[in-house]
Amino acid sequence: MTDERMVSGDTNNRDVEHESRLRPKDFSEYVGQKRVVENIDLMVKSANKRNAAMDHVLLSGPPGLGKTSLAMIVAKSLGSELHVISGPAIEKKGDLAAVLTNIQPKDVLFIDEIHRMHVSIEEILYSAMEDFRLDILIGQGASARTMQIDLVPFTLIGATTRAGLLSNPLRDRFMAHLHFDFYSPEELSQILENNAKKMNLKLNKESNLEIARRSRGTPRIANRILRRVRDFALVKDHKEVQLSDVHSALDLLDIDSLGLDTMDRKILKVISEYYSNGPVGIDALSATLGEDKQTIEEVYEPFLLKEGLLLRTPRGRVLSEKAISHMV
Ligand SMILES: Nc1ncnc2c1ncn2[C@@H]1O[C@H](COP(=O)(O)OP(=O)(O)O)[C@@H](O)[C@H]1O
Ligand SMILES: [Mg+2]
Repeated sequence: MTDERMVSGDTNNRDVEHESRLRPKDFSEYVGQKRVVENIDLMVKSANKRNAAMDHVLLSGPPGLGKTSLAMIVAKSLGSELHVISGPAIEKKGDLAAVLTNIQPKDVLFIDEIHRMHVSIEEILYSAMEDFRLDILIGQGASARTMQIDLVPFTLIGATTRAGLLSNPLRDRFMAHLHFDFYSPEELSQILENNAKKMNLKLNKESNLEIARRSRGTPRIANRILRRVRDFALVKDHKEVQLSDVHSALDLLDIDSLGLDTMDRKILKVISEYYSNGPVGIDALSATLGEDKQTIEEVYEPFLLKEGLLLRTPRGRVLSEKAISHMV
């Protein structure tokens, strides 16, 4: 069940192959997210001293910021196995029950996109998390009975791009809630330096910083650019990456000077051209773009908001001066 195909919708196949190689293997390789790491490191050490399962923890934040990687490091540091499942992929209560009854004491169950789990399945988690017990309803109507199955103590790590969409009973059962922020160019630069080494790629400071600045604050995107840069350098027989390789890769990936990709720019353009720079509501925006509302809110908006390109007002989304001048 640790198959990475179950993990995220935001990776194409070619990237997934390499993602495992570039994943940080332990806390020392895990760059940034200082508060998150401090919290989780303490929880891991405490669990190890108590020789007990670590508390349940909820990880939230945009895709590609290191939630899955962190869960893997946590399991390893606990000396436990990691079981990975994806919220929307669980179709029956029995599927979740089967996973829960098969884990060993102190193992970690990682549920990705936990906010997209069916409510009826989610309810199984309440007693599982709180009392390490499964309450299963057998039969229907008057003859229905609840059967209880004891579980071993385990740790649930939930990952979500939208913590706000979690139901209260589920959220309350997580003892810690850790939020991931976009990475600074300096942090991305450190990640790129480490990964260039892993790829046997000579990357000077100038090229490194150019990739870091254009990576949308996201390690997964930094890695994606780095791989295309490697391709260009290789094909052009450059022993060391040239700045021109970086620019060729960025052009190929349609990434602009602010690190925006095609969809980011399309969002800004639609608000500008169809809605005279806003305000526009998310439903109208989603319809005009032909893009799922949830994807806009979870994947695209957070970076545009953080960069101050998009503003949220009570009447809808509005373009900032920065966005307007960036587009001319
Ligand atoms: N803190 C980090 N330090 C180094 N590399 C990271 C870090 N966070 C993410 N990465 C890189 O980005 C990739 C995507 O991270 P991942 O954990 O899959 O993100 P998420 O689960 O939040 O979508 C990883 O394979 C890894 O190479
Ligand atoms: Mg993930």
